[in-house]
Order: sequence, then C-alpha cells, then structure tokens
Amino acid sequence: MKFSSRMRRHVLATACVALGALALPFAASAQSPIVIKFSHVVADKTPKGQAALKFKELAEKKLPGKVDVQVFPSSQLFGDAKELEAVLLGDVQFIAPSLSKFDRFTKKLQVFDLPFMFDDVEALDRFQSTPLGQSLLTSMTNRGLVGLAYWHNGMKQLSTGKDKLVRPEDVKGLKFRIQASDVLEAQFKALGANPQKMAFAEVYQALQTGVVDGQENTWSNIYSQKFHEVQKTIAETNHGPIDYMVVTNAKWWDGLPADVRKGLTEAMAEATTYGNKVAFDLNEADKKKIADAGKAKIQKLSKDDIAAWRKAMEPVWKQFEGGIGRDLIDAALKANK
Ligand code: LMR
Repeated sequence: MKFSSRMRRHVLATACVALGALALPFAASAQSPIVIKFSHVVADKTPKGQAALKFKELAEKKLPGKVDVQVFPSSQLFGDAKELEAVLLGDVQFIAPSLSKFDRFTKKLQVFDLPFMFDDVEALDRFQSTPLGQSLLTSMTNRGLVGLAYWHNGMKQLSTGKDKLVRPEDVKGLKFRIQASDVLEAQFKALGANPQKMAFAEVYQALQTGVVDGQENTWSNIYSQKFHEVQKTIAETNHGPIDYMVVTNAKWWDGLPADVRKGLTEAMAEATTYGNKVAFDLNEADKKKIADAGKAKIQKLSKDDIAAWRKAMEPVWKQFEGGIGRDLIDAALKANK
C-alpha cells in the first residue's frame, strides 16, 4: 500500500498529537510551580502587607517558574483563630502572626508582650538580632513550626471611646479587645480593666457596637481598620510592640528541594529588610492621616503620665517571669540603650 504525501502528513500529525498528549502530563508536573499560600490578617497597605507582597515579588523572581506565591491579606483565607492550625495542616504555607499569638506554642515569646519592655522598635530589633533572640525562631520546631524571620510593625497605642485617656485610672472598668495573649490579659487586669480576647477581623465591629470600649494597636493597624472612626481618643502610650514572626510548617520546609529553600530564604531575608525599613514610615504616615481625619483625638502624654502607666502595668512582669526565663528578660532589657 502506498501512502500519498497528504496521508503521510496526516498520520504524522496524528502521531505527534498522541505523543504530545502522553508527554504533556509529565512535562506539566515537572514544571508546575510549587504553590505557596501566604495568609495574613492585615491590609496590603501595612508593614506586614507590604513585606508579604515584596516576598512574593522576590521569590518569583529568584525562582522563575518554580514557585507561585499567593498572598491572601485581611483574613480572607484564614483569620487569627485558624491560621496557625492551617499552617500545621498544610492548607497554607506561610503566615506571620503577631508575637502575641504564639502563647499556645511557647511561653518564651511572651517576653515581647511584657509592658514597657522595649523603648522602641530599634531596641526590639537589637534584641532579636542577638543569638538568644535568633534562637526563638526555632523554639517551636517541636510543635511543627519553624520561624523564618521577624517582621516589624510598630509600637502600640491605646484607644477608647471616651474623651479622657491620660492616666491609668481612666481605663478602670472599661472593656478592651486584646490579642490572644495571657500577658496582655494580665496587663489590662492590672489596670483594673476587662480584657477580651478577640480575632483582629472582629475588632472594628466590636468597637462600633460597644461590645468593647477600647483596644491597643499600631497606627497602621488603627488607620487601615478605621478604628479611629469608632474611637474618641488614642493615647500615645508606646507601651509595647506589635511585631511578627513569619512561620512555616517545619516538615514542609525541610521537604522542599534545596534550591527552592535557598531561593525562598534569600527572598525572605530581602523582604524582611525592605518591610522593616518601610514599617516606621508607614506608621508615621498613618498617624498623620488619623490626625488629619480629625475623628479621634490623639492624646500626647507627659513623662509623668507614662511613668504612671508603667507603674500600673509593672506587676505583670513578676507574674510571667518564671515561664519566660530570666535570661531572656535580661537580654531583652539590655537591648534598650
Ligand atoms: C492584632 O490582632 O491586633 C494584630 O496582631 C494584627 C496584626 O497582624 O497586626
């Protein structure tokens, strides 16, 4: 039997399509990028939001076609209550909860919540850079979590729906939303206030409807969540930081191809430098926007006022010293200049 040249072309084309169909799944699986979901609870235009987007940009640039980093801000994918579980279950690969939210995993990170422990974010950064500070990144590996970096936000301010917020006695009997931290719970109890643990996504409504009277947070979180629109006074207490640890599932991390882990580590280091650099400016800019909006009053405090807040919150230290360890507390204190 003789094939015409037209038939030959047809047979050849059919064979190629069949071969292609066979080969495609292999080619696709060899090349399909590793999907990395990064979930967090704040807006894109915050220090953490910006750092997460920078990490995506850098990781995808360093590992072209190998990783697909998907960032889910504003509790879109998982809120506070679920994100730690989600990372352990492998439903999401990266999260960056505030250091206050690891209570269930280690008591050591409670050092960051002790009121007036750090004078400012620079002191916090100095402590985190010490060998002891760095060792905390791996303090939860036995629980399946490995820390890759510390990301900064800023210092917390205290806000309420009341006109007067100058001295500790002004918050007696008021209800405050707090992050899921036993130290913060003790801090508000020491002030004679009533703390209530609550997920970040629920705070605006709780303030608006009067479920709670006040909260503590950074300028960028207050502005991006519009807390200043439902609060009357924000006192510049700077009584503690909101700072984050980027964590991932230790088993997943160890199982990554070495080149991918290396690329992600580099991207994380660069995104950290970037995010920590913009954090201060973002907070200052948002503080100005809050002042310009003219809705909540920004209450400046004197040295004497600050000393009164410090004294009122001091009992908390003794309460948590045992669990945290004196070595950590001393090293953290040393970072203040
Ligand atoms: C909060 O819950 O107030 C903050 O930890 C939110 C955040 O991630 O900055």
